[in-house]
Amino acid sequence: MAIVRIPAEEVVLREPDDVRAFLGRHTIDFEQWVPNRPLTATASADEVLQAYAPEVDALKQRGGYATADVIDVKPETPNLDAMLARFNREHWHDEDEVRFIVEGRGIFHVHPTDGPVFAIEVEAGDLIRVPRGTHHWFDLCADRRIRAIRMFMDPAGWAPHYTESGVDQGFQPVCFGPSYVAPHA
Ligand SMILES: [Fe+2]
Repeated sequence: MAIVRIPAEEVVLREPDDVRAFLGRHTIDFEQWVPNRPLTATASADEVLQAYAPEVDALKQRGGYATADVIDVKPETPNLDAMLARFNREHWHDEDEVRFIVEGRGIFHVHPTDGPVFAIEVEAGDLIRVPRGTHHWFDLCADRRIRAIRMFMDPAGWAPHYTESGVDQGFQPVCFGPSYVAPHA
């Protein structure tokens, strides 16, 4: 279940209703699916899409998405740092950013126009839609593992536009996950 943090307000939201309501106020759709399809660690993108075909098809219809693919990274993925560097600076897209997390975790920071930056830590089972134009950036957690289904209206519309604001520099991509121990605990 996703965790939302608002560092400037020292707020952490963990209750599903609170998370959904908060994100909804920022026009970010959030749902939970059950990531229960048997998949091996080496399953191909096609196998992942096939395993979740009913959900993917439903989402395509609902959101008008034309295509889906799978992002699948592990610590040993070649050129992982270069890949991550494209997305860990504040940017926006001309398309919605739609992700269903099948395995692993990651952290989106969102910089709304009318409030402080907040972080959304997503994990397996979380389905998130960040609307087009939303300023955001993304990092992996310390385990550097995520497998997620992505939806596109037009993949060409998904190139990142960087704000070059430097706002991202002020936020540590620290995930709270199950193994997190608070420094003051
Ligand atoms: Fe993005």
